Amino acid sequence: MMNIGIDLISFYTPQYFLDLKTLAEARGVDPNKFYTGIGQEKMGLPPPDEDIVTMAASAALPILEKIDLKDVELLMLGTESGIDQSKAAAMFAHSLLKLPTRCRAFELKEACYAATAGLQMAIAWIERNPTKKALVIGSDVARYDLRSPGEPTQGAGAVAMLVAANPRILAIDPESGYHAEDVMDFWRPNYRDEALVDGKYSMLVYISSMLDAWKQYKVLSGRKFEDFAAFCYHLPFTKMAEKAHTKLAKEAGRPHPSPAELQKQIGSSLIYNRITGNTYAASLYEGLNSLLDNTADDLAGRRIAMFSYGSGCMAEFFSGVLQTGYQQHLFSAKHHILLDNRAELSYQQYEDIFQLAFPTDGGDHMFAQYRTGPFRMSGVKDHKRLYEKVK
Ligand code: CAA
Repeated sequence: MMNIGIDLISFYTPQYFLDLKTLAEARGVDPNKFYTGIGQEKMGLPPPDEDIVTMAASAALPILEKIDLKDVELLMLGTESGIDQSKAAAMFAHSLLKLPTRCRAFELKEACYAATAGLQMAIAWIERNPTKKALVIGSDVARYDLRSPGEPTQGAGAVAMLVAANPRILAIDPESGYHAEDVMDFWRPNYRDEALVDGKYSMLVYISSMLDAWKQYKVLSGRKFEDFAAFCYHLPFTKMAEKAHTKLAKEAGRPHPSPAELQKQIGSSLIYNRITGNTYAASLYEGLNSLLDNTADDLAGRRIAMFSYGSGCMAEFFSGVLQTGYQQHLFSAKHHILLDNRAELSYQQYEDIFQLAFPTDGGDHMFAQYRTGPFRMSGVKDHKRLYEKVK
């Protein structure tokens, strides 16, 4: 059987962040509730001229600079912070990235699961089109009401993945466990910009659907907990991965993981999320990127477990094998420069950006230029978003 999987992977997050100790001070809570209790340190915040389209295109550009654009005949963008009820964010990204007109481009939705749907669909498509490549992007802005329990778990970012035959990074295994169930743990009605969530319930459903998906995966693959070099989880906040991993170990008949085992099995995958916050559809793949960029050991030939969770809910447990020489194809230096050079916001700047309402009057609005990646949203005119390449 042909190997298919992630050939290149690239991550982008906005260039502004709020330290959660600043938020803790404003909310009158102990900063350790955020730093230790939920395991988050900073949250990324997009400036007014950045959105899911600019983040998606900024994540994808480094990949496309390395390949022949003509080969990309499929573009899927998974998001739960959609900007239009009809037009796919993928179409704007397709234009910014100058992808060929012979390309299937569309948006996918099922909360934080959407990019996994895209990855699995892309793999099936490559089986039929083995010389072609698919671009799968997860891009999201995680927003909850100010002063709500979800507020410290906000964040923003995008991950782009090139899916191809004989991938240079991660060959995805054919076995997969998946679980669909109609639950109201987290949702965002069309009339709201902020998600609604039943926080504690969402954590319970995350775990129960994971265990079902894992049990299926175990039977289908014949693999055991010990067969994985590392585990990547969907990361609404990093403590969730620790809770999930502990449950998985218990189900697998293992003792409670020690701090050293936790560090070895999930530690490197949490580094980026801890300082960007939840990136919804991108979050599992941000975790994979974090693992790959921050693991000194050569994991070539080793298997990585992946758990994707989208509220509502859809869960999937699958895996992949790292390919020889994968380290040479990562964008680690770019990611580290991006993360190290972000600007810190004061509490007031955070609230001002949060409260900015997108113009809905159909008039002409040009947006001030903030720090962004290679693309920005320059304004809105006649109800149409305007994007441009940053000079
Ligand atoms: N020092 C150290 N730890 C502290 C502390 C302190 N001073 N104060 C509290 N803590 C600990 C608590 O003990 C708790 O830890 P445990 O869960 O291990 O007991 C942790 O900090 C959080 O405290 P609370 O339970 O009191 O927090 P909360 O009720 O205010 O909110 C939350 C937590 C429910 C996760 C909330 O942030 C939330 O609703 N987030 C959004 C929903 C979410 O992320 N759900 C995850 C599953 S759904 C999903 O994965 C999809 C998705 O992306 C949204």
